[in-house]
Amino acid sequence: MSEDIKLIVNGKRIDGRAFDELRNIRIEAGVLKNADGSCYLEMGRNKIMAAVYGPRKVQPRHLADPVKAIVRYRYNMAPFSVEERKRPGPDRRSVEISKVSREALESIIMTELFPRSSIDIFVEVLQADAGSRTACLNAASVALVDAGIPMRGIITSVAVAKVDGHIVLDPVKEEDNFGEADIPFAFFIRNGKIESIALLQMDGKLTKNELIEAVKLAKKGVMEIYKLQREAIMKKYIVEDVE
Ligand code: CDP
Repeated sequence: MSEDIKLIVNGKRIDGRAFDELRNIRIEAGVLKNADGSCYLEMGRNKIMAAVYGPRKVQPRHLADPVKAIVRYRYNMAPFSVEERKRPGPDRRSVEISKVSREALESIIMTELFPRSSIDIFVEVLQADAGSRTACLNAASVALVDAGIPMRGIITSVAVAKVDGHIVLDPVKEEDNFGEADIPFAFFIRNGKIESIALLQMDGKLTKNELIEAVKLAKKGVMEIYKLQREAIMKKYIVEDVE
């Protein structure tokens, strides 16, 4: 809890944002030559690189599913991505994040079109500042589109936090660490509309009304991020000023 650090001052957050304001987001599709699809994304101070391979033959072969593609997702934090040195390699946290993120994406990928194949998604957190799993999902979604993987829609993700009694959008690390609750969301967006929640995690404590407010705020946030995801994809694939 925020005993020493004041997270809200004069109705503004620690970085000057309004309660319903996202951090600055920058998205670039198709940045890696050797991946089938890729995306570089910044969400505030988070810096993420996502790469997608596939559909391709499953390695090792015994993992192949005769009726659909398998989807693998690896969330990895670079040792230099956080303030205190992180031990390289997987840990319980990254295994859990990889699992829930994979499940969110798997629900929208048309895996049935690619039996015996794999779709491999690698996300590298180069710099983290809270909400890294949400930034990674946003980058992975764009990288999947860039790889030409058929999908029913797109996954767009943002976290909401409770900070000094207020529900706020897209928390930074201080808000995540010292706030009362942190709730990462991911939504399935189809034809420009939110269809369903694909990921919802929570630590901390919220009342029913606060949770309803959190969902509303997350929905507002993801529609703004969705627009930026679309723009990044359009920018790469649609050249509008050609005669
Ligand atoms: O990043 P996200 O909010 O999805 O996950 P978290 O487990 O709630 O972590 C919040 C933040 O704590 C991360 O984004 C990092 O900035 C920081 N963190 C860290 O400094 N060292 C770690 N080993 C893990 C997280």
